[in-house]
Amino acid sequence: MKENKQPYVILSAAMTIDGKIASKIGDPNISDEEDWKSVHKLRTEVDAIMVGKCSVILDNPKLHIKFYDHEGYYRIVLDSTLSIPVESNVVRYKPEIYPTIIATTENAPMERIREFESNHIEIIKSGTGSRVDIIKLMPILYKKGIRRILLEGGGNLNWSFIRDNIVDEIRIFIAPWIVGGKDAVSLVEGEGFAKMIESPRYSLTQVTSRNNNVILNYKKTKQ
Ligand SMILES: NC(=O)c1ccc[n+]([C@@H]2O[C@H](COP(=O)([O-])OP(=O)(O)OC[C@H]3O[C@@H](n4cnc5c(N)ncnc54)[C@H](OP(=O)(O)O)[C@@H]3O)[C@@H](O)[C@H]2O)c1
Repeated sequence: MKENKQPYVILSAAMTIDGKIASKIGDPNISDEEDWKSVHKLRTEVDAIMVGKCSVILDNPKLHIKFYDHEGYYRIVLDSTLSIPVESNVVRYKPEIYPTIIATTENAPMERIREFESNHIEIIKSGTGSRVDIIKLMPILYKKGIRRILLEGGGNLNWSFIRDNIVDEIRIFIAPWIVGGKDAVSLVEGEGFAKMIESPRYSLTQVTSRNNNVILNYKKTKQ
């Protein structure tokens, strides 16, 4: 466990050969049934699943567990302006098993905070900038007992975690397709690093080939 008391972060995603995690119109169907089972198994091993607001708005995921018995975990959504619909599955679907936290900023509208709180959503304010300050957020989550987070994207949220070098492990499912499209979301979006040397380094720990797909596991290289 990290000495500075922040949760261990595992980034998990399914992508095409060309690194897209959805098509240009937002079709996210990349994994096969067998891989969903593996991802749901991974979900049983964490205290929280985290996603960005656009993934909630576009895909309306339940972020639940099928295939296995489990006591549940937190769902965490990063939403600086509290703009996800209150009708979203992360709000409405089985909150007694998967309580939802929305991490936002100090600038979030008070009426939206009240609306979500009255729907049993916990709001955590982190930072005064235009986006949720994840460096401040992580120790707050740790204090709540969250030790392991499965980061399930999308590309913009992945970038913030990679930029701040707080991804400990990566699990990537690669489907043997190429979908292309400059507007199709990639595994990591955002500004990007100028030089290769600036990017965090990972060591390959496992390669699995299954049904013509590949699953790659990496761990952060010790500096
Ligand atoms: N294949 C896969 O494994 C997979 C997994 C997940 C998602 N997806 C796909 O990814 C797509 C969505 O990805 P996306 O990149 O557009 O959006 P995203 O990463 O899901 O959400 C990004 C949004 O989160 C909010 N946010 C708040 N604080 C943030 C922070 N510190 N850093 C980054 N974002 C922050 C921002 O909106 P505000 O500033 O308004 O708060 C930002 O625009 C969807 O098409 C979905 O299907 C695929």
